Amino acid sequence: QRSLLGLKELDQEEIRSILDRAAYWEAQQEKVKPVLPGKFVANMFFENSTRTRFSFEVAEKRLGAEVLNFSAAVSSVQKGESIYDTVRTLESMGIDAGVIRLKPIGVLAELATKIRIPLINAGDGNNEHPTQALLDLYTMRKQFGELRGLNVSIIGDVQHSRVARSNLWALRKFGANVSFCAPEGMTAAELDAPHISIDEALKADVIMMLRVQLERHENGLIKSAEEYRQQYGLTVERAKRIAPHAIIMHPAPINRGVEIDDELVESPQSRIFPQMQNGVPIRMAVIERALS
Ligand code: CP
Repeated sequence: QRSLLGLKELDQEEIRSILDRAAYWEAQQEKVKPVLPGKFVANMFFENSTRTRFSFEVAEKRLGAEVLNFSAAVSSVQKGESIYDTVRTLESMGIDAGVIRLKPIGVLAELATKIRIPLINAGDGNNEHPTQALLDLYTMRKQFGELRGLNVSIIGDVQHSRVARSNLWALRKFGANVSFCAPEGMTAAELDAPHISIDEALKADVIMMLRVQLERHENGLIKSAEEYRQQYGLTVERAKRIAPHAIIMHPAPINRGVEIDDELVESPQSRIFPQMQNGVPIRMAVIERALS
């Protein structure tokens, strides 16, 4: 039984085995293959989600697990119950694994020392979003065959991005070159990765745009959406300069017309919706790893 708290601590072989297992699940013809009968998985989201929550649920159901969905907004959290008491409550009822998304940083690591069932990180603060980065690596590997030597530019609100951190830590284990391009106030100097200009960033093999996370900004980091778009957005004009073999990625949700122009979201070089599709086999592999 194995938790997945982040990719920083996982070695290359372990990440590769998850990617390979996801490829196995993607290749299956049957939509449901009940390899986890009688296993109960609780999806515990203390912060909003569409993609992660639903792709975990699809993944769990495709594996034949019993699924419980917990939403903080309609739970006793609203009466002041703590995150620990909530997770401990579900554990005491007999769930076999918990998928958990949290806003505060550090709480998941502490929970994992107290809770006995495997916990899977579905995004904790701006720390890690391991299954997002796994599906991103999977998407890149499908496109290029090999991650070693790949140049990946991660552009936008790096400071507030758990996706940027998980991708940086995972991609480096495979020998990919990761650079950040971020406006002032959204850089992440503590991550010890090169910060480059938007013109340099556009030369990469992978152009990964990040959402401007207004909900995590204290105040005034952005003067106007149009100004952000002009300086750091992937506009139709800028997209003409990216290499013909390059791909555009974005973890979504997307602020169309801010970090990426509407016309580019489903353009031939975009892999944004395939990323979401790849999230299901990745999460099947992660759930299976936790419960097998
Ligand atoms: N990419 C991602 O984590 O999306 P959600 O917040 O909708 O889960």
